[in-house]
Parts: sequence; structure tokens; C-alpha cells
Amino acid sequence: MTAKPAGMWFGGDYNPEQWDEKVWAADDALMREARVNTATVGVFSWSILEPEEGRYDFGWLDATLDRLWHNGIRVVLATPTASPPPWFTLAHPDAMPVTREGTRLWHGSRDTYCAAAPAYRAAAARIAGALAERYAGHPALAMWHVHNEYGTVCWCDHAAAAFRGWLQRRYGKEHDGEGGDGLAALNEAWGTAFWSQRYSSWEQVLPPRATQWRANPSHSLDYSRFWSDEMLASFCEQRDAIRRHTPEVPVTTNFMMPHYQLLDLWAWSREVDVVAVDHYFGSAGRDGHPDLAFSADRARSFNSGRPWILMEQSTSLIYGRDRILIKEPGRMLRDSIAYLARGSDSVMFFQWRASQAGAEMFHPAMVPHAGPDTRIFREVCELGQAVSRLAEVVGSTVPAEVAMLWDADSWWALENRGIPLAEVRYLDLVRADHAALWRAGVVCDFVHPLGDLARYRLVFATAAYLISDEGAQALRNYVEGGGHVVMSFGGGMVDARHHARLDGYPGPLRDVFGIRVEEFRPLAPGETVPLTGDGVPGDGLADGGHGTIWSELLRSEGAEVLASYGDGPLAGHPAMTRNSFGAGTAWYVSTQLDAGARDRLVAAVAAEAGAAPVVVGAPPGVEIVRRHGDAGRSWLFVLNHTGAAAVVEASGVDLLSGRSADGQLEVAPGGVAVLREHDA
Ligand code: GLA
Repeated sequence: MTAKPAGMWFGGDYNPEQWDEKVWAADDALMREARVNTATVGVFSWSILEPEEGRYDFGWLDATLDRLWHNGIRVVLATPTASPPPWFTLAHPDAMPVTREGTRLWHGSRDTYCAAAPAYRAAAARIAGALAERYAGHPALAMWHVHNEYGTVCWCDHAAAAFRGWLQRRYGKEHDGEGGDGLAALNEAWGTAFWSQRYSSWEQVLPPRATQWRANPSHSLDYSRFWSDEMLASFCEQRDAIRRHTPEVPVTTNFMMPHYQLLDLWAWSREVDVVAVDHYFGSAGRDGHPDLAFSADRARSFNSGRPWILMEQSTSLIYGRDRILIKEPGRMLRDSIAYLARGSDSVMFFQWRASQAGAEMFHPAMVPHAGPDTRIFREVCELGQAVSRLAEVVGSTVPAEVAMLWDADSWWALENRGIPLAEVRYLDLVRADHAALWRAGVVCDFVHPLGDLARYRLVFATAAYLISDEGAQALRNYVEGGGHVVMSFGGGMVDARHHARLDGYPGPLRDVFGIRVEEFRPLAPGETVPLTGDGVPGDGLADGGHGTIWSELLRSEGAEVLASYGDGPLAGHPAMTRNSFGAGTAWYVSTQLDAGARDRLVAAVAAEAGAAPVVVGAPPGVEIVRRHGDAGRSWLFVLNHTGAAAVVEASGVDLLSGRSADGQLEVAPGGVAVLREHDA
């Protein structure tokens, strides 16, 4: 091969070190058959590449890269640093991770390192640099994949020292004034007057290790922030070691979707050349589709709207609560096209060939244990063909008029049990509102609280429990300038230090929403509270609906009351409000709405904000997304997740089947179409 293959990237993690040459030859033929054009190599190969400290053995990797290239396959080359070899443990026992309880972990699995340990950092940067030096100029090298799914935490003494350094930079001199060392600012920010926690020297400041009773939430929040930054610094060291040798090759790492919360992905996205994500389903059935969209919409948003990379998904696996579930036939193809619909320019899997041994030996792969004469491999080949037909879509983007705030601070603050209520989980709340938008057929971006809100007609501030002073100002400016915002219960209860807002929630945004939240009243497990529009000038939005989890004693200070609590101690008090502020509108929802009421609310606010579904009148369960290209070109992705044929209003040529649609498109049960709508 002389040039890298064109079109969407298709392939996955390839681990030939687990196999012999006979299997490699079979792999070559099967990859051609499946139209694989991309392989991620070396993710967990450290013990083979560096069998003893400082001695490298690249022979196997040389052969693999050459072989793949001759077979028409580009390589995403990984640094193997997510799994240090056993020799590393013995040489650097202090670099092994320590749990919150003080237990030091051992090798025998993967991810046994502390990202703050100097020996680990040095070894990781060294092997990254050695790989880059070795493969600089190799024609197959298309991208660097640093590490794998940064997602470990450590509470050891190295972490403690690094944490103190981070805190000194955060609460340093300028906070304490001339001659100060930041400790006074730290004491103030962490509210250490409570429970006798005042620090009188920096040595006393530790990670939030296991404690007898509830931990200090400000302390825990800062540790989450610090740890994300510490791992990011570790990534950047490897990236910079690589760039010295291959400045022209993009560097990324794979973010884990949907639910790892250890990284501030806005900050991380600024440091990678392109955003790459892994996505695995956490439940079977209908819930999976909005969840895929939830992950894909975030990936696109983290990459500033540009095409992103789906680095890993599974051909068949769904992580059930206590078991592995399997995707039904046809689902893999539809899922894969769904990622492309939302802006991915790749379809990649973990992994090419199912391992014969090891902790993930029963994890489905592109080539299963039973070999190529299998349903899964046939579906892989079918998918490879479908993906190859979508080459013209590469580089196009997905426009959105609606966004949801995404804020690691708010997530961390909530999960640190700022609110001691099990059902108030950041991800669940954001997911529920995103799913309502998905059901409404409205495409949604995610945006940082200090990001460009003005680009959107409508912004959801869901689970925005922590709002910084700057974040409050940004929301105020947005509404004042004509934006529409929907804030859900518990919004703005705390500031960036995790201190409660005084004089009523949502603190500095009270006048924007025209309300004052005086008291919150969590509901008992399973308890619901009816909502009513009776006697209030609403449009019956919440009539017949109910709230769960949470309720609030809320006073209108100018807002129009759209729904009230129909029963219980808050009977007759406002539950849902709407306020005009400047040129915009601010809605507030003080309970967790049931799905029906949430759908009515989303429809109402989207209509008022002028945010339309991609195609009006699409049947429920049919997902439709449009990608826009240059010169007015566009592609309509239609995914029928239902068991019945669906008809939608659309025109164009289906790139997958070659059939034309003129005004009406019929999509088979479980089927997919990708229409080329316009030519320039
Ligand atoms: C993650 C990892 C892979 C593999 C898969 C299994 O995404 O990156 O190495 O462990 O999970 O689902």
C-alpha cells in the first residue's frame, strides 16, 4: 500500500501478541474479507515491548506494523502504559496504587500504577518516547493512542504530595495576600471551621482517605479536580514525548463512556488532537438507544462539533448489572450507524479476535472463539460493507440548536454526596432529560457552563447543583440576551467551593428565574407527588403528571406558575415556573418529572424556543439525525429501532441500499437508511 485507506475508519483493537503466525495469516485474509482498514495495536503490550527495565524488544511490533500496512490497514499505535509489567512492581513498589482504605494493590490484572508516582511517570514517558522514535515515519502510523481509558485513582503518599502542590497553586499567595502561603484560603474554601478540621501546616493536608464519618465535601471535590488534572499531566507528558518524534501524527486517548466520572473531559479535550471514546451499553432493550446518543452527543461536543472517533464498542456485549447480555442480530449494524449519525468518522471495536485466555476471554469480538463461520463475523462483514459505502460522509458535522450543560464540578459535587439522597445522581438526571430530547427527535449538544451558550436556542441546566459565580453570570447573560433555559431542581444550591448559597436557591439566579427556593423536601423511596395545572395560568403541561425523588418549597417572585403540587405538605405551592428575563425565558422544574410530563415540557420549551426536531412527525422509536457537509450537502440518517416498518418524510438516495426515496422513505423493522439529500 502506498497511501492510507480512504473513508470511515473500520476495525478495532488488534492483539496479535496473543496468537501465532498461523493465526496472523488467517487474520490478514479475514480483515480483507471484512474490509477492515484500521487496527489499534499495542494497548497492553508493555511486558513484551520492554521485558526488563530499559531493554526494548520491538521485533514483534515491527513485523505487525509492516504486515498490517501491506494488507491495506492503517495503525493506531497505543502506548502500553495502562498495564505496567510485573518487573515494574518489584522495582518500584512505591508506585503501586493505594486504596482509600490504605491497601496497596498488586499486579496480576491491569492498571496497577499510581499516576502521581514519579517512577511510573518516568517509565511511561520513556516507553512512549521510545515507541515514537522507533515508528516515526512508518507509513502505517496514522494516530497515537496514549494509554487506555485513564480511570484509576490513588490515595498514596505520592498522590498526597502532588495534591498539596496542586492546592498550593490553587489557593496560593494571591488568595492569602502578601506573605501568605495559601493555607488560610484553603481553610476558608473547605469550611474547616466545621468539625475541627482547621489545618495549621501543609503537611497535615492529605487526600480524602477513609474516615470514620462523612467526609468534607469541599475536600473531596478538590481531590476529584486535582486527580483529573494529575492524570491529564501524565497524559501530556507522554503526548509531548511522542510529539518530539512525530509532530505530524495526531495524538489521542480513549475516553470512557457513558459513566466514568474521573475526568473533566472539557479540560482533557483541549489536550488531545481529536476526541476518541469507548462506549459500552449498560442495559439491554429500548433504553440503550438514547444512551448511545447520550454518549455520542457528548463525544461530538467535547470535540467542538468536529467528527470524533469511536475507538471501542462491542460487537455483541451489553454489560447487564450482574451478567453479560448479548445484542440481538442486526443490532450491531444499527448501533454502529447511530454513532456515525452523531458525528463519528469511525466504527471500531474491542477487539478483533476473541482472546483464548485472560480476564476478558469471553468478551465478544469481531472474530469469535468459534471462528469466522459465525453470525457475528458475518454481521461484521456486512457492517464493513455498509461502512465502506459511507465514505462521502467523512468530515461532515451535526448541527444542534439545543444544548445541555455538562459540568464535571457539578457531577463530582453531587457524587461526593453533597446531597445525601441516593436517587439524585448526576448522570441519571442528565440522561433523563437528554432521553426526552431524544424521544422528541431534537438533536442536543453538551456545553460547558462557561462555553458559548449563545449558539443555542435552548439550554438545559440539569443537575446543575454546583454553579460557580462565573457560571451564574453566563446563564444570566444568556437569558438576558434572548436565550431559553430550563433548570431542574437543586440547581445552584452550592458555589464552586461547595458552600451553600444563602438567602434562597438558586442564589444569584433567583431574579433570572423569578423564584426563591426556601426548602427542599426529598420524597420517600417510591413516593410520588401529583402535579396540577388547576387554578394556575399554565397550559396543562403537568396535568396528570407527577414528581418523584424530590420536591421544593418554592416561592414565585415574579415567575408565572405553570404547575403546582397537587397533594401533600406542598399542596398548592408552585412546582414548575416560567419567567421572562431580559429578552429570554427561564423555566424552573422543582421535582423530577415522570417521563410523560417531561416529554410535554420538552415539547413546549422546544416549540417556544423554536428548536425543531430533525424531521417532524417521525414515529416513536425512529431516530433521525442529519449530518451537514460542504456546499449544502447533507445526509439523513434514519434508524428504525422498532419491530415494525416505519415511514418518514424524506427524499434522497440511500447510500446503503442504493434505493431512492421521493418524499417518503420506508425503513424496515430494525433497519437503517442513510440518505444523500442534496448535491451542491
Ligand atoms: C474497555 C477497555 C478494553 C476492554 C473493554 C472491555 O473499553 O479499553 O481494553 O477491557 O473495556 O469491554
